[in-house]
Amino acid sequence: MNSVPGKFITFEGPDGAGKDSVLDAIIPDLRAKMGDKLVVTREPGGDPIAEQIRDVILDPQNTRMDDRTEALLYAASRRQHLQDVIEPALARGAVVICDRFVDSSVAYQGAGRQIGEQEVFALNQFATNGRTPDLTVYLDVPAQVGLDRIKAHRKDTQYDRLDQEETAFHDRVRAAYLRLAQANPERIVTVDAMQPLAAVIADVQAVLTENIPR
Ligand SMILES: Nc1ncnc2c1ncn2[C@@H]1O[C@H](COP(=O)(O)OP(=O)(O)OP(=O)(O)O)[C@@H](O)[C@H]1O
Ligand SMILES: [Mg+2]
Repeated sequence: MNSVPGKFITFEGPDGAGKDSVLDAIIPDLRAKMGDKLVVTREPGGDPIAEQIRDVILDPQNTRMDDRTEALLYAASRRQHLQDVIEPALARGAVVICDRFVDSSVAYQGAGRQIGEQEVFALNQFATNGRTPDLTVYLDVPAQVGLDRIKAHRKDTQYDRLDQEETAFHDRVRAAYLRLAQANPERIVTVDAMQPLAAVIADVQAVLTENIPR
């Protein structure tokens, strides 16, 4: 299933680990070097169908959403984005960098919502037809550190439904990420995101230099 000319790289981590900050810092350079050989995306990735599904998940009015409904909707949105954005780019030989993918569902829905990591992984195997990243950069921070960073930079009114969940939820998410990293050492590279941002960026740059074909 993974036999495409391109390279699929995902970024993962608890809320506030620094995924956006790191990507903002490293993408301009990569873009200058790679041009349209680089595709940077995030779910739902501007795909209108995936976006409509995502709107249902994140609507603060949907307080009655069942946990498995949520997991199915994430998987559906992911499927559409994969088919419309990621697979075509990989097929033409691009390097695709995606902010969050299946690992996020295993961590957030599987462990955070306690549906079960294996169950959510299996659901996502169906959704992705087994498409697995070639490389995953995992930015590791304790849940509370990430949440404090976000709170320091955001107004309360901007919180969506997921952000209102309790600290225990986020602790389970981080623990699941650590289990994923341990179980998949050939795919997942862990970067210590407790470091100052400049050091995190330097570590990620080193990982990408090693892994992106020239
Ligand atoms: N290494 C760091 N040290 C201190 N603050 C940081 C660091 N990395 C990011 N931040 C700050 O933490 C906040 C969250 O960072 P960012 O939005 O990049 O995280 P994220 O991983 O994309 O979060 P989310 O999962 O919510 O999208 C930002 O205000 C950012 O400036
Ligand atoms: Mg982000």
